[in-house]
Amino acid sequence: MQTSVKDKNIVLGVCGGIAAYKSVKLLRLLKKQGANVKVIMTQSAQLFVGPLTFEALSGQPVCTNLFEKDGSVSIRHIDWAEKADAVIVAPATANIIGKLANGIGDDALSTFMLAATSLAILCPSMNTHMFENRAVQRNLERLKADGYYVVAPASGELACGAKGYGRLPEPEDILDRLLCYLTPKDLKGKNLLVTAGPTREHIDPVRFISNPSSGKMGYAVARAAEHRGANVILIAGPTTLPDPLNITIIKIQTAQEMAVAVFENLENSHIIIKTAAVSDYRPLDPAKQKIKKKKDKITLFLQKNQDILKELGRKKKDRILVGFAAETEDLEENANKKLKEKNLDIVAGNLVGSPSSGFGSDINEVTLFYKDGTKKPLPAMKKDAVAHILLDQICALHPHS
Ligand code: PMT
Repeated sequence: MQTSVKDKNIVLGVCGGIAAYKSVKLLRLLKKQGANVKVIMTQSAQLFVGPLTFEALSGQPVCTNLFEKDGSVSIRHIDWAEKADAVIVAPATANIIGKLANGIGDDALSTFMLAATSLAILCPSMNTHMFENRAVQRNLERLKADGYYVVAPASGELACGAKGYGRLPEPEDILDRLLCYLTPKDLKGKNLLVTAGPTREHIDPVRFISNPSSGKMGYAVARAAEHRGANVILIAGPTTLPDPLNITIIKIQTAQEMAVAVFENLENSHIIIKTAAVSDYRPLDPAKQKIKKKKDKITLFLQKNQDILKELGRKKKDRILVGFAAETEDLEENANKKLKEKNLDIVAGNLVGSPSSGFGSDINEVTLFYKDGTKKPLPAMKKDAVAHILLDQICALHPHS
């Protein structure tokens, strides 16, 4: 089952760091996903971004003070803490990290955090030396032991000019971690091998045979499996997609390289999902130098590539094997043929050729075909949703394994 933040109550804590501007984008992303977001800002956060920005985008009053203007104690933070499904502090400064590690509540955000019992995520962001400081590291370790999730800062150029760890991860990555932490871990302990994207078979150094696979379907499967607790190895052909978090990625170019990577990682895999669009043929004798256009016609001899999935079917043992079938006609007949020939448990068949499904699109319309001859047509939906339904079906094959 895909987890979403739709209608979830999320509290976003913002501390005083230059990365506070990125929290605005995080808020927008959360709202776009249908979450109810309330924002608590520290005093120093307000020096970087005005509360009005968060108020306008969240559609909720922003909590900036432990005390109301009339001097009475605000109970807003207690009320919010009771209703929150998740709390994200981004950026989390050394100051809030130190306070939380020691149980100090002396402003709206720190007292709220002490009262919150929901899932809590800290996204540290600060100068590299500050981040590496022993006290900060000690505090983070203590917080992890206390049950906080800590999203490691990214490495790169920091606002202070230094280079190293300390950058707030991109808001998309923070949202990805939130979804991951909220997802039940029904694939915990499973090793999952996923292939994604196209392969490239070179004709000469500057030309190749390939196909329009973007890698989106395979990356969605890999991300969904990681969210559900699997150890994921993703073997990917050339794509422009960002590397998914917490996944081992092996980047390949050709079908032969994909075969090597797959068979090297076969032994420990419990589940293999072959989403990649592998070239069936490669040029027999690729030119060492760029081919010059001297003749009107040239002949290109192609050599058949190994069918990786068919070989996996021969070596199947008790592994779960899932293939994809990209067809332009006779989906059912062709998908069932592949199911039998390659000794698979499930084939996800999709018609390719339309821009709104299959190659390149964020959407896919898939029919699942099973070994026992049954099928399950799915409506067109986001590839993330297809990935989760496919994983649901895989879990149902061996519910107790
Ligand atoms: O990457 P996207 O843009 O998101 O597009 C997704 C997709 C359309 C590529 C995907 O949904 C899909 O259909 N992938 C399978 C494409 C394909 O190569 O299908 P096929 O019918 O040619 O191959 C059948 C199966 O055998 C596939 O699982 C394929 O990985 C595998 N195969 C094929 C040839 C080969 N030499 N070795 C293989 O392992």
